[in-house]
Amino acid sequence: MNSFSNDDFDFSFLEEGFSARDIVEQKINEVSLSDDKDAFYVADLGDIVKKHVRWFKALPRVTPFYAVKCNDGKAIVKTLSILGAGFDCASKTEIQLVQSIGVSPERIIYANPCKQVSQIKYAASCGVEKMTFDSEVELMKVARNHPNAKLVLRIATDDSKAVCRLSVKFGATLKTSRLLLERAKELNVDIIGVSFHVGSGCTDPQTYVQAVSDARCVFDMGAELGFNMHLLDIGGGFPGSEDVKLKFEEITSVINPALDKYFPADSGVKIIAEPGRYYVASSFTLAVNIIAKKVMVNEQSGSDDEEDAANDKTLMYYVNDGVYGSFNCILFDHAHVKPVLTKKPKPDEKFYSSSIWGPTCDGLDRIVERFELPELQVGDWMLFENMGAYTVAAASTFNGFQRPTLYYVMSRPHWQLMHDIKEHGILPEVPDLSALHVSCAQESGMELAPAVCTAASINV
Ligand SMILES: Cc1ncc(COP(=O)(O)O)c(C=O)c1O
Repeated sequence: MNSFSNDDFDFSFLEEGFSARDIVEQKINEVSLSDDKDAFYVADLGDIVKKHVRWFKALPRVTPFYAVKCNDGKAIVKTLSILGAGFDCASKTEIQLVQSIGVSPERIIYANPCKQVSQIKYAASCGVEKMTFDSEVELMKVARNHPNAKLVLRIATDDSKAVCRLSVKFGATLKTSRLLLERAKELNVDIIGVSFHVGSGCTDPQTYVQAVSDARCVFDMGAELGFNMHLLDIGGGFPGSEDVKLKFEEITSVINPALDKYFPADSGVKIIAEPGRYYVASSFTLAVNIIAKKVMVNEQSGSDDEEDAANDKTLMYYVNDGVYGSFNCILFDHAHVKPVLTKKPKPDEKFYSSSIWGPTCDGLDRIVERFELPELQVGDWMLFENMGAYTVAAASTFNGFQRPTLYYVMSRPHWQLMHDIKEHGILPEVPDLSALHVSCAQESGMELAPAVCTAASINV
Protein backbone atom coordinates (compact mmCIF):
# COMPACT_ATOMS: atom_id res chain seq x y z
CA MET A 1 0.00 0.00 0.00
CA ASN A 2 1.18 3.47 -0.77
CA SER A 3 0.93 4.97 2.65
CA PHE A 4 2.03 8.01 4.48
CA SER A 5 3.07 6.93 7.90
CA ASN A 6 4.45 8.42 11.03
CA ASP A 7 3.19 8.20 14.59
CA ASP A 8 0.41 10.71 14.09
CA PHE A 9 -0.52 10.33 10.53
CA ASP A 10 -1.09 6.95 9.13
CA PHE A 11 -3.10 6.66 5.96
CA SER A 12 -3.03 5.13 2.51
CA PHE A 13 -3.22 7.03 -0.73
CA LEU A 14 -6.18 6.17 -2.92
CA GLU A 15 -5.19 5.25 -6.43
CA GLU A 16 -6.67 7.51 -9.10
CA GLY A 17 -10.34 6.83 -9.73
CA PHE A 18 -10.90 4.83 -6.55
CA SER A 19 -12.98 5.89 -3.59
CA ALA A 20 -13.00 5.07 0.11
CA ARG A 21 -15.96 2.80 -0.63
CA ASP A 22 -13.72 0.75 -2.95
CA ILE A 23 -11.34 0.25 -0.05
CA VAL A 24 -14.20 -1.10 2.05
CA GLU A 25 -14.91 -3.60 -0.73
CA GLN A 26 -11.23 -4.41 -1.04
CA LYS A 27 -10.89 -5.11 2.70
CA ILE A 28 -13.98 -7.31 2.58
CA ASN A 29 -12.58 -9.23 -0.41
CA GLU A 30 -9.25 -9.69 1.38
CA VAL A 31 -10.85 -11.56 4.28
CA SER A 32 -13.55 -13.32 2.29
CA LEU A 33 -11.93 -16.74 2.60
CA SER A 34 -10.87 -16.44 6.23
CA ASP A 35 -12.85 -16.59 9.47
CA ASP A 36 -11.22 -13.39 10.57
CA LYS A 37 -13.99 -10.95 9.70
CA ASP A 38 -13.66 -8.26 12.37
CA ALA A 39 -15.59 -5.01 12.05
CA PHE A 40 -13.56 -2.16 10.57
CA TYR A 41 -13.79 1.45 9.51
CA VAL A 42 -12.57 3.16 6.39
CA ALA A 43 -12.19 6.90 6.98
CA ASP A 44 -11.63 9.30 4.12
CA LEU A 45 -9.43 12.21 5.23
CA GLY A 46 -10.09 13.84 1.85
CA ASP A 47 -13.70 14.25 2.95
CA ILE A 48 -12.44 16.40 5.84
CA VAL A 49 -10.42 18.53 3.42
CA LYS A 50 -13.57 19.01 1.31
CA LYS A 51 -15.57 19.96 4.39
CA HIS A 52 -12.96 22.57 5.27
CA VAL A 53 -13.26 24.20 1.84
CA ARG A 54 -17.06 24.05 2.11
CA TRP A 55 -16.89 25.67 5.55
CA PHE A 56 -15.07 28.74 4.28
CA LYS A 57 -17.33 29.06 1.26
CA ALA A 58 -20.38 29.09 3.55
CA LEU A 59 -18.98 30.93 6.57
CA PRO A 60 -16.13 33.10 5.31
CA ARG A 61 -15.94 35.14 8.51
CA VAL A 62 -15.83 32.21 10.94
CA THR A 63 -12.68 30.31 11.90
CA PRO A 64 -13.43 26.69 12.85
CA PHE A 65 -12.03 25.32 16.11
CA TYR A 66 -12.69 21.59 15.69
CA ALA A 67 -14.40 20.00 18.74
CA VAL A 68 -11.97 17.18 19.51
CA LYS A 69 -14.51 15.33 21.69
CA CYS A 70 -16.44 14.38 18.56
CA ASN A 71 -13.68 12.13 17.22
CA ASP A 72 -10.16 12.35 18.60
CA GLY A 73 -8.44 10.28 15.89
CA LYS A 74 -4.89 11.57 15.54
CA ALA A 75 -5.05 11.53 11.75
CA ILE A 76 -8.14 13.75 11.92
CA VAL A 77 -6.52 16.21 14.29
CA LYS A 78 -3.38 16.23 12.15
CA THR A 79 -5.34 16.85 8.94
CA LEU A 80 -7.23 19.73 10.51
CA SER A 81 -4.05 21.13 12.01
CA ILE A 82 -2.36 21.21 8.58
CA LEU A 83 -5.48 22.91 7.20
CA GLY A 84 -5.01 25.62 9.83
CA ALA A 85 -8.08 24.95 11.99
CA GLY A 86 -8.14 25.71 15.68
CA PHE A 87 -9.25 23.21 18.32
CA ASP A 88 -11.92 23.11 21.01
CA CYS A 89 -10.53 20.95 23.82
CA ALA A 90 -12.60 19.89 26.81
CA SER A 91 -9.90 18.34 28.99
CA LYS A 92 -6.19 18.07 29.73
CA THR A 93 -5.93 14.93 27.59
CA GLU A 94 -7.46 16.66 24.58
CA ILE A 95 -5.09 19.61 25.03
CA GLN A 96 -2.16 17.17 25.23
CA LEU A 97 -3.29 15.38 22.09
CA VAL A 98 -3.56 18.58 20.09
CA GLN A 99 -0.29 19.99 21.41
CA SER A 100 1.50 16.69 20.77
CA ILE A 101 1.10 17.34 17.05
CA GLY A 102 2.50 20.84 17.34
CA VAL A 103 -0.61 23.03 17.60
CA SER A 104 0.23 26.32 19.33
CA PRO A 105 -1.77 27.38 22.43
CA GLU A 106 -3.36 30.33 20.58
CA ARG A 107 -5.13 27.83 18.34
CA ILE A 108 -6.81 26.14 21.30
CA ILE A 109 -9.91 27.10 23.27
CA TYR A 110 -10.48 25.14 26.48
CA ALA A 111 -14.25 25.08 25.94
CA ASN A 112 -15.50 23.37 29.04
CA PRO A 113 -17.30 25.72 31.43
CA CYS A 114 -16.76 23.39 34.44
CA LYS A 115 -13.12 22.36 34.83
CA GLN A 116 -11.13 20.47 37.44
CA VAL A 117 -8.66 22.79 39.21
CA SER A 118 -5.64 20.63 38.30
CA GLN A 119 -6.64 20.87 34.64
CA ILE A 120 -6.98 24.66 34.81
CA LYS A 121 -3.44 24.68 36.22
CA TYR A 122 -2.31 22.40 33.40
CA ALA A 123 -3.77 24.78 30.80
CA ALA A 124 -1.93 27.66 32.51
CA SER A 125 1.35 25.70 32.48
CA CYS A 126 1.18 25.06 28.75
CA GLY A 127 0.00 28.49 27.68
CA VAL A 128 -3.63 27.76 26.84
CA GLU A 129 -5.39 30.98 27.80
CA LYS A 130 -8.77 31.01 26.11
CA MET A 131 -11.33 29.16 28.22
CA THR A 132 -15.07 29.26 28.77
CA PHE A 133 -17.02 29.69 32.03
CA ASP A 134 -20.65 30.20 33.03
CA SER A 135 -20.63 30.54 36.84
CA GLU A 136 -19.14 32.58 39.67
CA VAL A 137 -17.43 29.53 41.19
CA GLU A 138 -15.58 28.87 37.92
CA LEU A 139 -14.60 32.51 37.73
CA MET A 140 -13.05 32.29 41.19
CA LYS A 141 -11.27 29.00 40.38
CA VAL A 142 -9.76 30.55 37.25
CA ALA A 143 -8.84 33.80 39.05
CA ARG A 144 -6.86 31.77 41.62
CA ASN A 145 -5.23 29.26 39.30
CA HIS A 146 -4.74 30.92 35.92
CA PRO A 147 -3.99 34.64 36.22
CA ASN A 148 -3.39 35.00 32.45
CA ALA A 149 -6.66 33.36 31.44
CA LYS A 150 -8.76 35.08 28.81
CA LEU A 151 -12.28 34.08 29.64
CA VAL A 152 -15.18 33.57 27.29
CA LEU A 153 -18.62 33.72 28.88
CA ARG A 154 -20.86 30.91 27.71
CA ILE A 155 -24.48 31.95 27.46
CA ALA A 156 -27.50 29.63 27.36
CA THR A 157 -29.51 29.15 24.17
CA ASP A 158 -33.02 27.93 23.49
CA ASP A 159 -31.87 24.51 22.24
CA SER A 160 -35.29 22.87 22.67
CA LYS A 161 -35.31 21.94 18.97
CA ALA A 162 -31.84 20.36 18.93
CA VAL A 163 -31.30 16.59 18.88
CA CYS A 164 -28.84 16.77 21.81
CA ARG A 165 -29.52 19.59 24.23
CA LEU A 166 -26.59 21.24 25.99
CA SER A 167 -28.07 24.36 27.59
CA VAL A 168 -29.75 22.18 30.22
CA LYS A 169 -26.23 21.81 31.61
CA PHE A 170 -24.29 24.89 30.48
CA GLY A 171 -24.80 28.55 29.81
CA ALA A 172 -25.66 31.68 31.79
CA THR A 173 -28.84 33.68 31.29
CA LEU A 174 -28.52 37.33 30.26
CA LYS A 175 -29.34 38.43 33.82
CA THR A 176 -26.65 36.14 35.29
CA SER A 177 -24.22 37.28 32.59
CA ARG A 178 -24.33 40.86 33.92
CA LEU A 179 -23.64 39.63 37.47
CA LEU A 180 -20.76 37.47 36.22
CA LEU A 181 -19.22 40.37 34.31
CA GLU A 182 -19.43 42.56 37.42
CA ARG A 183 -17.84 39.82 39.53
CA ALA A 184 -15.09 39.31 36.94
CA LYS A 185 -14.30 43.02 37.14
CA GLU A 186 -13.95 42.76 40.95
CA LEU A 187 -11.68 39.72 40.58
CA ASN A 188 -9.65 41.43 37.86
CA VAL A 189 -10.26 38.58 35.42
CA ASP A 190 -10.12 39.37 31.71
CA ILE A 191 -13.29 38.55 29.77
CA ILE A 192 -12.57 38.58 26.04
CA GLY A 193 -15.82 37.33 24.57
CA VAL A 194 -18.96 35.25 24.50
CA SER A 195 -19.67 31.68 23.41
CA PHE A 196 -22.79 29.60 22.98
CA HIS A 197 -23.86 26.24 21.64
CA VAL A 198 -27.28 25.83 20.02
CA GLY A 199 -27.30 22.09 20.81
CA SER A 200 -25.87 19.31 18.71
CA GLY A 201 -28.02 18.43 15.70
CA CYS A 202 -29.65 21.85 15.52
CA THR A 203 -32.93 21.83 13.58
CA ASP A 204 -33.82 25.52 13.79
CA PRO A 205 -31.38 28.11 12.42
CA GLN A 206 -33.27 30.88 14.22
CA THR A 207 -31.67 29.56 17.42
CA TYR A 208 -28.33 30.87 16.11
CA VAL A 209 -29.87 34.25 15.28
CA GLN A 210 -31.30 34.64 18.79
CA ALA A 211 -28.02 33.51 20.34
CA VAL A 212 -25.96 35.96 18.23
CA SER A 213 -28.33 38.76 19.26
CA ASP A 214 -28.02 37.71 22.95
CA ALA A 215 -24.24 37.64 22.57
CA ARG A 216 -24.42 41.24 21.29
CA CYS A 217 -26.27 42.23 24.50
CA VAL A 218 -23.51 40.65 26.59
CA PHE A 219 -20.81 42.40 24.54
CA ASP A 220 -22.61 45.70 25.23
CA MET A 221 -22.79 44.93 28.97
CA GLY A 222 -19.08 44.10 28.90
CA ALA A 223 -18.26 47.37 27.16
CA GLU A 224 -20.23 49.31 29.81
CA LEU A 225 -18.07 47.65 32.47
CA GLY A 226 -14.87 48.45 30.60
CA PHE A 227 -14.03 45.05 29.09
CA ASN A 228 -12.45 44.93 25.65
CA MET A 229 -14.45 42.01 24.27
CA HIS A 230 -13.33 40.85 20.83
CA LEU A 231 -14.15 37.14 20.47
CA LEU A 232 -17.49 35.61 19.49
CA ASP A 233 -17.67 31.80 19.55
CA ILE A 234 -20.81 30.45 17.84
CA GLY A 235 -20.20 26.84 18.98
CA GLY A 236 -21.20 23.72 17.06
CA GLY A 237 -24.49 22.14 16.01
CA PHE A 238 -23.81 21.99 12.25
CA PRO A 239 -24.85 18.82 10.37
CA GLY A 240 -22.12 16.45 9.19
CA SER A 241 -23.98 14.53 6.51
CA GLU A 242 -26.64 15.08 3.89
CA ASP A 243 -29.28 12.79 5.45
CA VAL A 244 -30.68 15.64 7.56
CA LYS A 245 -33.72 17.89 7.16
CA LEU A 246 -31.76 21.11 7.56
CA LYS A 247 -28.66 21.34 5.34
CA PHE A 248 -25.45 23.08 6.36
CA GLU A 249 -25.86 25.91 3.83
CA GLU A 250 -29.47 26.50 4.93
CA ILE A 251 -28.14 27.17 8.43
CA THR A 252 -25.21 29.30 7.33
CA SER A 253 -27.39 31.43 5.04
CA VAL A 254 -29.28 32.48 8.17
CA ILE A 255 -26.19 32.89 10.38
CA ASN A 256 -24.24 35.19 8.04
CA PRO A 257 -26.77 38.06 7.99
CA ALA A 258 -27.07 37.82 11.79
CA LEU A 259 -23.30 38.08 12.15
CA ASP A 260 -23.20 41.03 9.76
CA LYS A 261 -26.01 42.77 11.64
CA TYR A 262 -24.76 42.28 15.21
CA PHE A 263 -21.01 41.91 14.63
CA PRO A 264 -20.18 43.69 11.35
CA ALA A 265 -16.77 43.07 9.83
CA ASP A 266 -15.53 46.49 10.97
CA SER A 267 -16.47 45.75 14.62
CA GLY A 268 -13.06 44.14 15.07
CA VAL A 269 -14.65 41.05 16.65
CA LYS A 270 -13.03 37.75 15.69
CA ILE A 271 -15.59 35.02 15.13
CA ILE A 272 -14.86 31.37 15.75
CA ALA A 273 -17.01 28.21 15.95
CA GLU A 274 -16.60 24.75 17.46
CA PRO A 275 -17.86 22.34 14.79
CA GLY A 276 -17.54 18.66 15.67
CA ARG A 277 -19.91 16.45 13.73
CA TYR A 278 -19.74 18.76 10.67
CA TYR A 279 -16.15 17.78 9.96
CA VAL A 280 -16.13 14.06 10.60
CA ALA A 281 -19.54 12.41 10.34
CA SER A 282 -19.51 11.64 6.62
CA SER A 283 -15.87 10.61 6.40
CA PHE A 284 -16.31 7.29 8.24
CA THR A 285 -17.91 4.10 6.92
CA LEU A 286 -18.20 1.15 9.29
CA ALA A 287 -18.30 -2.42 8.00
CA VAL A 288 -19.70 -5.06 10.36
CA ASN A 289 -20.00 -8.77 9.84
CA ILE A 290 -22.94 -11.00 10.70
CA ILE A 291 -21.70 -13.40 13.38
CA ALA A 292 -25.01 -15.08 14.24
CA LYS A 293 -28.59 -15.22 13.06
CA LYS A 294 -31.95 -16.36 14.36
CA VAL A 295 -35.05 -17.09 12.33
CA MET A 296 -38.29 -16.40 14.18
CA VAL A 297 -41.29 -18.10 12.59
CA ASN A 298 -44.54 -16.33 13.34
CA GLU A 299 -46.48 -19.01 15.23
CA GLN A 300 -49.66 -16.90 15.17
CA SER A 301 -49.88 -16.93 11.35
CA GLY A 302 -52.28 -19.92 11.40
CA SER A 303 -51.18 -21.14 7.97
CA ASP A 304 -50.71 -24.89 7.49
CA ASP A 305 -48.84 -24.27 4.27
CA GLU A 306 -45.10 -24.78 4.91
CA GLU A 307 -44.07 -22.20 2.28
CA ASP A 308 -46.44 -19.56 3.70
CA ALA A 309 -45.12 -20.23 7.18
CA ALA A 310 -41.51 -19.90 5.98
CA ASN A 311 -42.35 -16.55 4.37
CA ASP A 312 -44.02 -15.33 7.51
CA LYS A 313 -40.86 -15.00 9.55
CA THR A 314 -38.73 -12.32 11.07
CA LEU A 315 -34.96 -12.39 11.26
CA MET A 316 -32.53 -11.42 13.99
CA TYR A 317 -28.95 -10.66 12.98
CA TYR A 318 -26.06 -10.38 15.43
CA VAL A 319 -23.10 -8.34 14.19
CA ASN A 320 -19.62 -7.71 15.60
CA ASP A 321 -20.02 -4.11 16.78
CA GLY A 322 -22.83 -2.75 18.92
CA VAL A 323 -24.07 -0.06 21.28
CA TYR A 324 -21.19 -0.66 23.69
CA GLY A 325 -18.85 0.01 20.76
CA SER A 326 -19.34 2.30 17.76
CA PHE A 327 -23.11 2.33 18.05
CA ASN A 328 -22.98 4.08 21.42
CA CYS A 329 -24.18 6.97 19.23
CA ILE A 330 -27.64 5.39 19.43
CA LEU A 331 -27.71 5.86 23.20
CA PHE A 332 -25.61 9.01 23.64
CA ASP A 333 -26.20 10.87 20.38
CA HIS A 334 -29.80 9.85 19.62
CA ALA A 335 -28.58 8.43 16.31
CA HIS A 336 -30.79 6.35 13.99
CA VAL A 337 -28.63 4.17 11.82
CA LYS A 338 -29.53 2.05 8.83
CA PRO A 339 -27.56 -0.68 7.15
CA VAL A 340 -26.35 -0.61 3.56
CA LEU A 341 -25.87 -4.02 1.95
CA THR A 342 -22.71 -4.90 0.08
CA LYS A 343 -24.55 -7.31 -2.22
CA LYS A 344 -27.32 -5.93 -4.41
CA PRO A 345 -30.56 -7.90 -3.79
CA LYS A 346 -32.01 -9.72 -6.82
CA PRO A 347 -35.05 -7.98 -8.37
CA ASP A 348 -37.47 -10.65 -7.13
CA GLU A 349 -35.82 -11.21 -3.76
CA LYS A 350 -38.15 -11.34 -0.77
CA PHE A 351 -37.55 -8.91 2.09
CA TYR A 352 -38.16 -9.78 5.74
CA SER A 353 -38.68 -7.66 8.79
CA SER A 354 -35.29 -7.86 10.51
CA SER A 355 -33.61 -6.58 13.65
CA ILE A 356 -29.87 -6.06 14.12
CA TRP A 357 -28.09 -6.65 17.42
CA GLY A 358 -24.60 -6.06 18.78
CA PRO A 359 -22.30 -8.83 20.00
CA THR A 360 -22.52 -8.35 23.80
CA CYS A 361 -24.73 -10.29 26.17
CA ASP A 362 -26.86 -7.27 27.02
CA GLY A 363 -30.46 -7.03 25.75
CA LEU A 364 -29.96 -3.28 25.40
CA ASP A 365 -27.41 -3.94 22.68
CA ARG A 366 -29.77 -3.45 19.74
CA ILE A 367 -28.66 -1.42 16.72
CA VAL A 368 -31.78 -1.50 14.53
CA GLU A 369 -35.22 -2.45 15.83
CA ARG A 370 -36.88 -3.16 12.50
CA PHE A 371 -35.65 -2.96 8.91
CA GLU A 372 -36.76 -4.73 5.75
CA LEU A 373 -33.86 -6.83 4.47
CA PRO A 374 -33.40 -9.77 2.11
CA GLU A 375 -32.36 -12.91 3.95
CA LEU A 376 -28.67 -12.65 4.86
CA GLN A 377 -26.24 -15.28 6.10
CA VAL A 378 -23.62 -15.52 8.81
CA GLY A 379 -20.44 -14.11 7.26
CA ASP A 380 -22.26 -11.46 5.19
CA TRP A 381 -21.33 -7.80 5.66
CA MET A 382 -23.38 -4.70 6.37
CA LEU A 383 -22.12 -1.15 6.02
CA PHE A 384 -23.10 1.88 8.06
CA GLU A 385 -22.30 5.26 6.53
CA ASN A 386 -21.80 8.64 8.22
CA MET A 387 -20.28 7.01 11.30
CA GLY A 388 -17.51 9.51 12.15
CA ALA A 389 -19.17 11.62 14.85
CA TYR A 390 -19.60 10.52 18.47
CA THR A 391 -18.93 6.86 17.63
CA VAL A 392 -15.33 5.65 18.12
CA ALA A 393 -14.75 8.49 20.59
CA ALA A 394 -16.97 6.90 23.25
CA ALA A 395 -16.71 3.21 22.25
CA SER A 396 -15.88 0.77 25.04
CA THR A 397 -14.54 -2.78 24.99
CA PHE A 398 -17.36 -4.10 27.21
CA ASN A 399 -17.57 -7.91 27.22
CA GLY A 400 -14.11 -8.00 25.66
CA PHE A 401 -15.22 -6.89 22.19
CA GLN A 402 -12.45 -4.80 20.65
CA ARG A 403 -13.06 -1.54 18.83
CA PRO A 404 -12.99 -1.82 15.03
CA THR A 405 -9.70 -1.30 13.20
CA LEU A 406 -9.49 2.06 11.45
CA TYR A 407 -8.10 2.45 7.94
CA TYR A 408 -7.52 6.05 6.89
CA VAL A 409 -7.33 6.93 3.19
CA MET A 410 -6.89 10.11 1.16
CA SER A 411 -6.68 10.80 -2.55
CA ARG A 412 -3.57 12.52 -3.94
CA PRO A 413 -5.54 15.56 -5.18
CA HIS A 414 -6.93 16.03 -1.66
CA TRP A 415 -3.44 15.62 -0.21
CA GLN A 416 -2.20 18.26 -2.64
CA LEU A 417 -5.15 20.54 -1.86
CA MET A 418 -4.48 20.19 1.88
CA HIS A 419 -0.89 21.37 1.37
CA ASP A 420 -1.97 24.18 -1.00
CA ILE A 421 -4.35 25.39 1.71
CA LYS A 422 -1.52 25.20 4.24
CA GLU A 423 0.70 27.31 1.98
CA HIS A 424 -1.76 29.82 0.57
CA GLY A 425 -5.01 29.54 2.53
CA ILE A 426 -8.27 28.80 0.75
CA LEU A 427 -8.23 30.40 -2.67
CA PRO A 428 -11.51 31.38 -4.34
CA GLU A 429 -10.79 29.13 -7.34
CA VAL A 430 -10.35 25.99 -5.26
CA PRO A 431 -10.99 22.96 -7.52
CA ASP A 432 -14.19 20.97 -7.19
CA LEU A 433 -13.01 17.56 -6.06
CA SER A 434 -16.43 16.09 -5.45
CA ALA A 435 -16.15 13.91 -8.57
CA LEU A 436 -13.38 11.99 -6.84
CA HIS A 437 -15.96 10.45 -4.60
CA VAL A 438 -17.57 8.59 -7.47
CA SER A 439 -15.77 5.34 -7.70
CA CYS A 440 -14.64 4.39 -11.19
CA ALA A 441 -14.80 0.78 -10.16
CA GLN A 442 -18.38 1.10 -8.98
CA GLU A 443 -19.39 3.09 -12.04
CA SER A 444 -17.99 0.66 -14.56
CA GLY A 445 -18.85 -2.46 -12.58
CA MET A 446 -15.24 -3.63 -12.96
CA GLU A 447 -13.48 -5.98 -10.59
CA LEU A 448 -11.29 -4.25 -8.07
CA ALA A 449 -7.57 -4.39 -8.61
CA PRO A 450 -5.85 -6.32 -5.81
CA ALA A 451 -4.55 -3.05 -4.36
CA VAL A 452 -6.39 0.18 -4.93
CA CYS A 453 -4.10 1.86 -2.43
CA THR A 454 -0.39 1.87 -3.11
CA ALA A 455 2.59 2.21 -0.80
CA ALA A 456 5.39 4.68 -0.25
CA SER A 457 6.75 6.56 2.68
CA ILE A 458 6.52 10.30 2.56
CA ASN A 459 7.63 12.90 5.01
CA VAL A 460 6.02 16.28 5.42
C1 LIG B 1 -18.76 22.99 24.00
C2 LIG B 1 -19.02 22.20 22.76
N1 LIG B 1 -18.56 22.67 21.59
C3 LIG B 1 -18.73 22.00 20.43
C4 LIG B 1 -19.39 20.79 20.42
C5 LIG B 1 -19.53 20.09 19.09
O1 LIG B 1 -20.84 20.09 18.67
P1 LIG B 1 -21.26 19.53 17.25
O2 LIG B 1 -20.69 18.18 17.12
O3 LIG B 1 -22.74 19.57 17.27
O4 LIG B 1 -20.71 20.46 16.24
C6 LIG B 1 -19.92 20.26 21.60
C7 LIG B 1 -20.66 19.01 21.59
O5 LIG B 1 -21.12 18.50 22.58
C8 LIG B 1 -19.72 20.99 22.81
O6 LIG B 1 -20.17 20.53 23.98
